[in-house]
Amino acid sequence: MKIVVVGSSNMDLIVQTERAPRAGETVVGEHFTTASGGKGANQAVAAARLGAEVVLIARVGGDDFGRRNLETYRHEGIDTSYIAVDREAPSGVALIVVEKGGENRIVVVPGANGRLSPGDVGRARDAFADAAVLLAQLEVPLETVEEALRLAREKRLKTILNPAPARLLPAGLLQLVDVLTPNETELAHITGGETGDLKGVAAAARKLLGLGPKHVIVTLGEKGALVVSKRGEAYVPSFPVDAVDTTAAGDAFNGALAVALARGMEMEAAVRFACAAGALATTVLGAQPSLPRLDQIEGLLSSGK
Ligand code: RIB
Repeated sequence: MKIVVVGSSNMDLIVQTERAPRAGETVVGEHFTTASGGKGANQAVAAARLGAEVVLIARVGGDDFGRRNLETYRHEGIDTSYIAVDREAPSGVALIVVEKGGENRIVVVPGANGRLSPGDVGRARDAFADAAVLLAQLEVPLETVEEALRLAREKRLKTILNPAPARLLPAGLLQLVDVLTPNETELAHITGGETGDLKGVAAAARKLLGLGPKHVIVTLGEKGALVVSKRGEAYVPSFPVDAVDTTAAGDAFNGALAVALARGMEMEAAVRFACAAGALATTVLGAQPSLPRLDQIEGLLSSGK
């Protein structure tokens, strides 16, 4: 069961602090650490930790961060043959401030991620031949995402697009998506208005069904997820956990969803599996350090919580 992930690779520079500074203010933080991140790489690692064969199509800089990230991905068993080393742009970096309680604020400087091109995807054509699922996000150029979705359609892969961070999508792109996984903010951005309560979220998600996706899964943070499909809607609750850092919870969700769907799980069961992965990811500091393994997810699923 092979999954192709197209997306970003960053080095995350993480500080933990009681509260984030206001404009012009300096606060003293409690802890600093660095960890591999980037939505593409996080989702690739999430899927690999759950036993999938994963190919990551990405771009890193020819610098220490790039070398360290490549080493990490290899150590996770990811196929890195299609990760280009950019000689001009530096590796992507994310500055992440995590407040007490787990909420985060992130500034990303894309660097080499901004130069991941449709040509990079084309060079990885062979990787699509025997894969089951393509998983993409929006931290790399839109034309690159579109090329990956087009190639995946041609090769009959199931396509999952996690539209994060929120961006306006060109007409036609959604036609190539089977499963769209926005959070509430991203859903509001794509549909051009506030979504409000769960009813409003469902109505906005239903609008998107008419534009291509067969399923829109809206992630609701600690509240779980809403699955909106042509056949109807289902609310999937999440799991109560003690959150220390919500960074990469969405990435854990998407990586796990890709694995579950590649294994042929029914949509609702797949989303429940993904919610468990997302919840577990909030219990550990950092993006990739927090991504759970299969036994942890199975433990949470069978805990009756
Ligand atoms: O989704 C979390 C990720 O967003 C972080 O790892 C950071 O690199 C940013 O891309």
